[in-house]
Amino acid sequence: MSRIVVIDAEACIGCETCTRLCPEVFKMISEHKAGVYNPTGAPEEKIELAMDNCPVACITWED
Ligand code: F3S
Repeated sequence: MSRIVVIDAEACIGCETCTRLCPEVFKMISEHKAGVYNPTGAPEEKIELAMDNCPVACITWED
């Protein structure tokens, strides 16, 4: 089963890195917040690239 990616909306500063690196999964849901709209829309490696580049490390795999 695919792992599900989540964003801690409190921590997100809206830098848009995740939406640029992996637009199949992440999109801006307001001016300063990104959200997950398609959690299985990209390979895990591509999602992890976004995780690794988020400046506040608020993108994680759901427990
Ligand atoms: Fe927010 Fe991190 Fe994406 S700060 S916009 S979740 S790269």
